Amino acid sequence: MVPFDYYPRTRIVFGPGKVEMLGQLAGELGARRVLVVSDPGVIGVGHTALGLAALASAGIDTQLFDGVVENPTTDNVEAGATLARRFEPELIVGFGGGSSMDCAKGINFLHTGGGRIQDYWGTGKATRPMLPMIAVPTTAGTGSETQSFALISDAQTHVKMACGDKKASFRIALLDPALTVTQPQRVTALTGIDAVAHALETYVCRVRNPASLAFSREAWLLLADNFQRVLDDPTDLSARGGMQLGACFAGLAIENSMLGAAHALANPLTTTYGIPHGHAVGLALPHVIRFNGAEVGAWYHDLLECTAGSNGYPSPESGADGLADFVSALVRRAGLAERLSECGVEHDRLGELATEAARQWTGGFNPRKVGEAELRSLYEAAF
Ligand SMILES: [Fe+2]
Repeated sequence: MVPFDYYPRTRIVFGPGKVEMLGQLAGELGARRVLVVSDPGVIGVGHTALGLAALASAGIDTQLFDGVVENPTTDNVEAGATLARRFEPELIVGFGGGSSMDCAKGINFLHTGGGRIQDYWGTGKATRPMLPMIAVPTTAGTGSETQSFALISDAQTHVKMACGDKKASFRIALLDPALTVTQPQRVTALTGIDAVAHALETYVCRVRNPASLAFSREAWLLLADNFQRVLDDPTDLSARGGMQLGACFAGLAIENSMLGAAHALANPLTTTYGIPHGHAVGLALPHVIRFNGAEVGAWYHDLLECTAGSNGYPSPESGADGLADFVSALVRRAGLAERLSECGVEHDRLGELATEAARQWTGGFNPRKVGEAELRSLYEAAF
């Protein structure tokens, strides 16, 4: 029996057009002054304006912070916190992809607790109450809307710091699939693969438990099917909704368990070669599934039982190999290269990458033990 502590912190409001409820929901949380954190891409397609209008129509004063970049940095967070000091918001909205949502959390850490973001690296470092926050995701991937962690990169060293505190959980995740329809195809592909990886890594991680498994399983069901549909038809709103919910549930699975070796292998590829996170995870995942299959093949079999008989899914009997092939096919379908050698990775640096991968926290939760040697072999397999 696996002990766990499932404490839902985030209300989830889902449906097309629900962005119009943003003002009402902020009002329910008692806010009259709201800082909206967003990025230029999302602002450019007009989504953020919908949120600002909804807030204004509820009589709420707003201030927009648009200084978010992909993989937000300590500089972005500090600039946002400076603006927050002047504006004195009562609530913060993270409006955009994982970067905007993580930046909102980072700004909240500094605004309410002071210091530098480095002070919050790790877990449970916020000592003061934090402002309530609402997430409005416009991609279907990171699941940041239901997680208490922010990934912030050090602007000087480029080290990615995971800053987690249960107080940094969003009070509400406002999921409007209509906001995800305008994503560029490449963003759909990268974030979709990441979400699939979240479902599959959490499903077999060492700290999986009945609560996390329920979310991993549902995320898998929603993502595997709808991912192919959104790639075929980006305007399919029902499939977009499935992806958005799947990514959100996968986020809840991470919040209630952990990831594994595919994320440990992916991070050094991103920091060393700039390979986007979703692509880096997609390069590693099929090999990690095959490797794990030797010990937890029965778990993959169980997961495939859920989709047995559905069109296009691998059979339960095909086990880890069938699942790995299926993930590879998704990566191909997303138009992403499948081998490290096609992505500029140099063979003579695999050892160095494996050393770095072995330092990643997530690797310790992989069901089959991975040290530097195993990680090196996995890079070789993916090369
Ligand atoms: Fe990820």
